[in-house]
Amino acid sequence: MEQVSAKADDVMLSVKDLTVGFGSNIVLDKLNLDIYRGEILGFVGASGTGKSVLMRTVLRLLRRRSGTIRIFGLDFDKASEAERLALDMKLGVLFQHGALFSSLTVKENIQVPMREYLDLPQAMMDELARLKIELVGLAPEAANKYPSELSGGMIKRAALARALALDPALVFLDEPTSGLDPIGAAEFDELIAKLRDTLGLTVYMVTHDLDSLFSVCDRIAVLGQKKVMVEGTIEDMLAFDDPWVQSYFRGKRARSIVRKT
Ligand SMILES: Nc1ncnc2c1ncn2[C@@H]1O[C@H](COP(=O)(O)OP(=O)(O)O)[C@@H](O)[C@H]1O
Ligand SMILES: [Mg+2]
Repeated sequence: MEQVSAKADDVMLSVKDLTVGFGSNIVLDKLNLDIYRGEILGFVGASGTGKSVLMRTVLRLLRRRSGTIRIFGLDFDKASEAERLALDMKLGVLFQHGALFSSLTVKENIQVPMREYLDLPQAMMDELARLKIELVGLAPEAANKYPSELSGGMIKRAALARALALDPALVFLDEPTSGLDPIGAAEFDELIAKLRDTLGLTVYMVTHDLDSLFSVCDRIAVLGQKKVMVEGTIEDMLAFDDPWVQSYFRGKRARSIVRKT
């Protein structure tokens, strides 16, 4: 791998001048974003602004028009096939839709990435799946259940267990608490914070949940006008002069949370 300086070493993901579009629809235009080691970055923006597109581009599921993406200091374009493979294994993903394969049990879902990247005996994969299930706070019996037999909160936890299957360093969560009731969402947030602390994860979390932003995110980035419009703390958001940011962070729902903190 390339040599990187000590400071750059703390940047887990660096996106520079990223442009992504579909036909004439430019979704992201020269977007810049850095994510630092050990932080939980909350990523927000109006619906359809490109939050999922950014995540999918970083994961190389979508093609970009221009710009560079460095993960753990390594420029993907300059990486060898072996380096890319090693890098992919260090990324965990919880997608916005289709969190789990419905035809597979929880255990089998968690083992999908293991089968894809590792060559392990079944007994070892079973043991690893058991550990991941425990890690995300699911009961051992959940292992042999199908997604249709689980509650919304359990599905999110199982999907998180699959994202953690290969012990990633950087985890992408696309609206992980959407569809959960406030208590379920708060419990999921606590789990994320706990895993960050115990596993040393770096977390990129797309969320619409103001409670999550206030309670677990260290830093917030707002996507708007095809760029990261503003990034920083809640205070930085409150001070930022943009109508969408103001109505989002100072709206009715936000006020009741701000008062609590
Ligand atoms: N595969 C695709 N093909 C064409 N357009 C797409 C595709 N994926 C996303 N888009 C467009 O990109 C924009 C951003 O979408 P998305 O990233 O899903 O928004 P969100 O911020 O809600 O996650 C939308 O206008 C959407 O229609
Ligand atoms: Mg989305």
